[in-house]
Amino acid sequence: MSNRVLIFDTTLRDGEQSPGASMNQEEKLSIARLLQELKVDIIEAGFPIASKGDFNSVQAIAREIKDCQIAGLARAKHEDIETAWNAVKEAKNPRIHTFIATSPIHMQYKLKLTEDQVLEKIKDSVSFARNLCPNIEWSCEDGGRSSIDFLYRCIELAISSGATTINIPDTVGYTLPYEFGEIIKKVKNNVPNIDNAIISVHCHNDLGLAVANSLNAVENGARQIECTINGLGERAGNAALEEVVMAMKVRSDLLKVHTEINTESISKTSKLVSSITGFPVQPNKAIVGANAFAHESGIHQDGVLKNVETYEIMSPESIGLKKSSLVLGKHSGKHAFKEKLKILGYDVGDNYINEIFAKFKMLADKKKDVYDEDIIALVDDTHINQINTLKLLNLSIMSGTNSKHVASLELDFKGEIKEISGSGNGPVDAVFSCIAKVVGFSPKLKLYNINAITPDSDAQGEVAVKLEYLNKEFIGKASDIDIIVASAKSYINAINKIINFEKNSNMQEGVSEISLTNMKGI
Ligand code: KIV
Ligand code: ZN
Repeated sequence: MSNRVLIFDTTLRDGEQSPGASMNQEEKLSIARLLQELKVDIIEAGFPIASKGDFNSVQAIAREIKDCQIAGLARAKHEDIETAWNAVKEAKNPRIHTFIATSPIHMQYKLKLTEDQVLEKIKDSVSFARNLCPNIEWSCEDGGRSSIDFLYRCIELAISSGATTINIPDTVGYTLPYEFGEIIKKVKNNVPNIDNAIISVHCHNDLGLAVANSLNAVENGARQIECTINGLGERAGNAALEEVVMAMKVRSDLLKVHTEINTESISKTSKLVSSITGFPVQPNKAIVGANAFAHESGIHQDGVLKNVETYEIMSPESIGLKKSSLVLGKHSGKHAFKEKLKILGYDVGDNYINEIFAKFKMLADKKKDVYDEDIIALVDDTHINQINTLKLLNLSIMSGTNSKHVASLELDFKGEIKEISGSGNGPVDAVFSCIAKVVGFSPKLKLYNINAITPDSDAQGEVAVKLEYLNKEFIGKASDIDIIVASAKSYINAINKIINFEKNSNMQEGVSEISLTNMKGI
């Protein structure tokens, strides 16, 4: 058996099914580009039957991304499978991923099908898919709670009908590591034609065991892991890509397997996914949390200075965190700034550099040390301002314990300068109401989140908002040393996404949309 484990990333499909994590086509494409740089083997780009938007995103990814297999998800229905095929067929290496539930509870209550009927559907759906595409993945949804003897029959049939990958999901994150490993071992030993397919696993994290279960499955013969960046996914999420990959790398002495992942792109991919979805990464999250490589206590710091391996089992550089001795401040010149951008992985054009450098100077005037995180936020913010039509030009606030909270804003909306003042229940409320008046609609604020980017009290605040408009959610993110300005900019970022969405959906008028939420009962 090969000791190469394939990495199947489902951030854009299962990850997007996290409540509030929906992404637009451009955002999905930018994540797919980084997944390609990360060298994942397979990108599950979406669930094409779910909506026209999903279909278009999968198709755009299939057209552009050449170095990864591109998979589209489909239920055991011809319409789903055909739609998935149409979305992925232009990929260099397309895959159809079709599934049906096999656990007693799912078959009885959700599907209302007997075991024999499910077997019939497996044969029909897999052979239909195989006639379209040579690369077929079949999943037994809720495999972790399915009868093992029934699983053997389903898997054997799926393989004889044309499946090339058999995925065994622990859909509800219920199994324990040794128990899940046993399932894989039994499948490997008891399904007669199992050597004609790759065994894959797809573990959810409801008991916090998704990574442990996936690794135990690998020890027992699985050679594909389905996972997501930052562990995004339904409910408690999926196995985190960065954790399974780094565990296999750091403990290759025991696990004796490897992946082809370019681990040095992990950190920036994690940041991009967090920034696009608005889901912050908890500071103590393994591998990608802000504290994952921070040594706070004196004893630890002393040990690390003497020999870094006393408290570090992997280097920050191995996940792409570049330590640089270049600390920027107000006296830093454009050359040093450009050098820093290069180290951080930004290739910024000449027109752009002047704008970002001017912003850096303004920030450095207010803040003694400018950290890498500050610069990343500056670049992201500049980009945000360039591609959107609603822009913040000026903001002032009158606020206090016993006074009214009044905001005054100057905005550029569709090229016209708008000045507006208004009050609210607090400064943020006052600012948001003013912006809503200017654009002429008032989305519901579903989430407001603020984090300090760096530790000091002069740190920039990073604000994420989630707005609901016409039953869809839009995330905005921005940062500034003034948290009210960061709030205004993040709200404007989300408003711009709504405006863009409206523009795009007017272009697609007449297309019927099945919302993803409706698809969740699958
Ligand atoms: O969790 C699950 O069972 C799934 C399948 C569709 C693979 O996401
Ligand atoms: Zn799942």
